[in-house]
Amino acid sequence: MKSYAIVLAAGKGTRMKTDLPKCAYPLLKKPMIAYIVENLKNTELIDETIVVVGHKKEVIHNILNNSVSYAIQEEQLGTGHAVKMAKELIVDQDGLTAILPGDMPLIDEFVLKAALDKHQKANHDLTIVTTVVEDPFGYGRIIRNGDNVIDKIVEENEASPLEKEIKEINTGIYIIKNNILFETLDKVNKDNSKGEYYLTDIVGILKSENALIGTYILKTSYKAMGVNDLYALSIAESKLRHDINMRLMKSGVAMINPDTITIGHNVVIEENVTIYPNTYITGNSLIKKGAAIGPNTEIHHSYIGENVSCKHSLIFNSTIQEESKVGPFAHLRDGANVGPRNRIGNFVEIKKTSTGYNTKASHLAYLGDAEIGDNVNFGCGAITVNYDGTNKYKTIIGDNVFVGCNANLIAPIEIHDDSFIAAGSTVNKNVPKGTLAIARAYQVNKENYMNLKDKKKK
Ligand code: UD1
Ligand code: CA
Repeated sequence: MKSYAIVLAAGKGTRMKTDLPKCAYPLLKKPMIAYIVENLKNTELIDETIVVVGHKKEVIHNILNNSVSYAIQEEQLGTGHAVKMAKELIVDQDGLTAILPGDMPLIDEFVLKAALDKHQKANHDLTIVTTVVEDPFGYGRIIRNGDNVIDKIVEENEASPLEKEIKEINTGIYIIKNNILFETLDKVNKDNSKGEYYLTDIVGILKSENALIGTYILKTSYKAMGVNDLYALSIAESKLRHDINMRLMKSGVAMINPDTITIGHNVVIEENVTIYPNTYITGNSLIKKGAAIGPNTEIHHSYIGENVSCKHSLIFNSTIQEESKVGPFAHLRDGANVGPRNRIGNFVEIKKTSTGYNTKASHLAYLGDAEIGDNVNFGCGAITVNYDGTNKYKTIIGDNVFVGCNANLIAPIEIHDDSFIAAGSTVNKNVPKGTLAIARAYQVNKENYMNLKDKKKK
């Protein structure tokens, strides 16, 4: 028996007032729709996820690629119509389908698992996940009869003043038996204020046919929050941030002023790490134990080794090995691989460059497209000149090399072990092992020159 999930993501998101399809909006740099698909996968109870796309479908496709199947809703005629688009993909009549909105990023795998479990154990034809909220405005209201059994769902626009008082709402998650799903959807009409096919109408229809309808009532109601506008997006993001920070602090990550710290959903941080204020860590980053990160640091998709410290720095798609110190004001761009016990200091930029053990660039340096060995010291202002306006070239530096202040290393170039580049040199030829390279004009001192100049003036 096959279990399907249908995620509705074809809507434009009119209330967002911008062009990006709503479900592509990011929370902590990750699109809303990606959370839902990932959590469905984490339940390990769904065999196939079908995402219904329509408005700017290529944007959603670029986020999820081949991790899901797609159904296309050319015209957005309502949530009921959207589900119908998946009909051809749902072939196992004995199975079940979970239906979820794509604008509900806080829902987690545990809620989905619990609802699926209840649906199966109680042998419901349809299970609706509901929750009770303080302010139900905008949500479909759950109408129960005298026996507390669900009768129907009434949308905000259709609700009477009395129904509007009801605080139990439809989260938009349904689990339904496949053998009744599409025949019920065929009975939904668009006789309502919006002229749309409301998915919520299946409840009343099934009720009139004496189907067994149950609810799963979610206690942590904020997890069912629907994100319809940019304000709701900011609230959802801060809830998610709070949850992630709480989980990390409880697992042994110290946070100084956690309200200013943003950690992405897929970031892994080991215990005994300290994070200082105004720090963002996102993507698939891994922070090993003993590290100190921040203040004012941004790390994306990077590996930070044990006992590393990074202050006031930007680190993207890079790695920093154990015991290294980075910052303040360092910028590690794509493919910077900093070795163990390095010192990368003020205003140093590193790109597509690896360094060995105990290498130092303490101030004002640019290291790009380079392979650098152990115990190398870059003086203040040292630069790998890697770009001639058209092509990029490599710099290779061996072990124990001293690069003096303001040296320009014009690539392609190789500086071999134990050599020394004199300060102010512009070198464009390879430097053999153990060599002192000086490439600068000799100094000329014109003695007494200033006195002569002063006399002329008079
Ligand atoms: C919907 C429910 C409401 C529930 C709320 C929970 C209906 C009629 N109403 O309202 O009862 O309380 O969610 O958040 O279902 N979509 C499509 N195609 C369409 C229309 C929508 O794919 O033609 C998608 C949207 O992209 C969105 C989801 O369906 O991800 C829900 O649509 P939305 O317009 O946000 O519904 P709500 O008004 O929030
Ligand atoms: Ca919504």
